[in-house]
Order: sequence, then C-alpha cells, then structure tokens
Amino acid sequence: MKKLISIFLTMALTLSLAACGGTGAASAEPSAPDNNTTAQPDATADESSAPEQSAEPDAEPVETPDGEANRILIAYFSWSGNTEELAGMVQAETGGDLFAIEPETPYTDDYNALLDQAQQEQTDNARPALAAQVENWAQYDAVFVGYPNWWGDAPMVVLSFLESYDCTGKSIVPFCTSGGGGFGSSRDSVEASAVGAEMLEGFHVGGSGVSGAQSDVAAWIDGLALAQ
Ligand SMILES: Cc1cc2nc3c(=O)[nH]c(=O)nc-3n(C[C@H](O)[C@H](O)[C@H](O)COP(=O)(O)O)c2cc1C
Repeated sequence: MKKLISIFLTMALTLSLAACGGTGAASAEPSAPDNNTTAQPDATADESSAPEQSAEPDAEPVETPDGEANRILIAYFSWSGNTEELAGMVQAETGGDLFAIEPETPYTDDYNALLDQAQQEQTDNARPALAAQVENWAQYDAVFVGYPNWWGDAPMVVLSFLESYDCTGKSIVPFCTSGGGGFGSSRDSVEASAVGAEMLEGFHVGGSGVSGAQSDVAAWIDGLALAQ
C-alpha cells in the first residue's frame, strides 16, 4: 500500500513538475507572442488612434494658426491681360486673395509708347507710385507676385509694390508671362526688392500659352506644398 502511495505521489510530483516546466516553456513562448500580441494591438491601436491623435496636433498648427496667419495673396500686374488670366488660375488653385498692382498714373494704352515708357523706367530705375495698397498685408504669409516680362525684367511698378511692404518672413512666389524671354532677370529683381522674404519656385509661361496652362499651374502649386 505504502508502495502504491509512494508511486502515486511520485507520479503526482512528476506531473506537477512537468506542468511547471510547461508553464515555463509556455511562459517563454507566450512572451514572444505576448510581445507580438502586445505589439500588434499597440500597432493596431496606434493605427486606429494615433493618426487621429497625430492628425489633431498636426491639423491645429497647420489649420488654426496657419488658417489665420498663413494666408495667401496673389498680387499681379498685367497690361494686356495674360498675367491677369494666369493670376486667376493661381487663385483657383490656392484660394488666395487677388490683388491687382496698378500704377497711380496708368500706363499708356499705346503699345509702342509703352515700350518706350517701360524702357525709360528701367533706365531710370524708377519706382512708379502705386494706385492702391493691400489691406491687412501682415496676415499674408505667402505672396504670389505675377507680372509680364518687360525688357527682360519685371515692370518697375512691381518693384514699387514689393518695396512698399515689409516682406520679412514672407514667402514670395514669382510667376511671369512673356513673349519668349522667360523670367529674364526678373527673379533677381523681385528677390532684391522683397527684402527678408524667402523666394519659392516660380512659374513661367509664354503669353500665348496661358489659356492651356491650368494643369501646369496646378502641378507647380502642388509642389510648393503651401497651406491654405
Ligand atoms: C513694354 C513691354 C516690354 C516687353 N518686353 C518683353 C521682353 O523683353 N521679353 C519678352 O519675352 N516679352 C516682352 N514683352 C511681352 C510681354 O512680356 C508678354 O506679351 C506678356 O505676356 C504680357 O503680359 P500681360 O498681358 O499680362 O501684360 C514685352 C511687352 C511689353 C508691353
């Protein structure tokens, strides 16, 4: 009988030890799945909650403060309408505010006389007086500046415009139409007049190509990654 009890106890002890060992092995094995399990739900939790959590903080700096301060202005000068049409496309893509740069004394309607006048202004490094000022300039963070190429440069009234504001900290985005001369040296002039601004990538199209430029305008503006 004692022998039977002893055998029974031995078996019970063996089984118990085996169970403990099994638990150890099981605890080692689950630790990996546990890690995985912990990682997966965490990852899942991250996927389900983190985007919302990270989207909100991201959205606030981008949408709230930038929605107020990071506004877009599209200021343009146009004599015969090409740059104005392009400015309209920029407006459609960005939702920014449009502003027409105009000299206090309008340019002549006579093309040949205008050629002379524009050349003379350039020779004089003139700064023609402006007809109007932008309201709430400070609210704009990015300013698109559009103009035609005049004698290989920006019309001087565009430089008048830029120099009449504090451009510090603003992003200036030039866009230009021309008869074939591209930007010429206008980007350098714009940069020199927009003191303290950061110049972003500009866009140029020939005057006769403006009406077909919408998709190129969209691609250019997408590449700028502006908030608005
Ligand atoms: C006074 C004047 C000077 C110009 N000079 C140039 C030039 O140097 N190079 C060029 O490619 N086009 C030149 N053009 C052509 C204009 O840049 C082009 O027609 C432009 O698209 C006009 O834009 P707008 O319709 O917005 O005024 C000149 C036009 C004018 C009126």
